[in-house]
Amino acid sequence: MAAEDIPPPPAPLHVAIIMDGNGRWATSRGWPRLVGHRRGAERVRSIVEACPALGITHLTLYAFSTENWKRSTEEVIGLMTIFSAYIRSEAKRLSAEGVRLRFIGDRTRLDHKLQRLMAWVEAKTAHSGRLHLTVAINYGGRNEIVRAARRLACEAAEGRLDPARIDDAAFAAALDTCDLPDPDLVIRTSGETRISNYLLWQSAYAEYEFTPTLWPDFTPEELAAIVRKFAHRERRFGGVVSA
Ligand code: IPE
Ligand code: IPE
Ligand code: MG
Repeated sequence: MAAEDIPPPPAPLHVAIIMDGNGRWATSRGWPRLVGHRRGAERVRSIVEACPALGITHLTLYAFSTENWKRSTEEVIGLMTIFSAYIRSEAKRLSAEGVRLRFIGDRTRLDHKLQRLMAWVEAKTAHSGRLHLTVAINYGGRNEIVRAARRLACEAAEGRLDPARIDDAAFAAALDTCDLPDPDLVIRTSGETRISNYLLWQSAYAEYEFTPTLWPDFTPEELAAIVRKFAHRERRFGGVVSA
């Protein structure tokens, strides 16, 4: 086969998920909301494991938004405890499976112990690259954009950046997601059809899929079905597709 006949490798597939519906999953069974969050966290493992076989190279999960601080102290502390437990229990497995775990969001508001744990697991898995797993904690698209704008403004004010050089690429490079491709597909579970401040800049041309399934019930099989459906979508990026 001549070199020009070899098809290019498939583009990286970045799937971003809004893991919603944990609370409803629990309350519909008469259980506390935190039980739903625990089940939701357990669900992450099988979804992560399913990604490489589906051609997914990047998976980004929305775990806690900048607006989720409005919830009861009990729920917020419970969620933070779940995040720590997830990092502790999964670090070894993730690194053995070639998963690189990173976080996006403003971590300065998080407990210092949790911040240290996050930095530790990022370093531990830094050399893995089979799957790039990113977890959004205290993340909000607007907050991320504001922090990026502030950083660029500071550099400009200090004379280190010419404002005329701020273009799309420079702005994207100042976001938390600077090392990640834009998401191709954003999935939201639980039947809500809104994006709740998730990846506002990055999702400019993402495809969306909304499923009524509550996150603790979301299976690798459903993910596979959504990815298959995505493969048939015609993405135009503002252009015209020739017949
Ligand atoms: C998503 O589940 C998890 C977080 C937002 C932390 P929810 O807790 O929002 O579940 P519902 O939407 O109340 O069912
Ligand atoms: C979005 O879910 C945030 C996460 C899944 C972490 P929410 O449940 O917080 O969103 P709203 O309040 O229904 O928009
Ligand atoms: Mg919700």
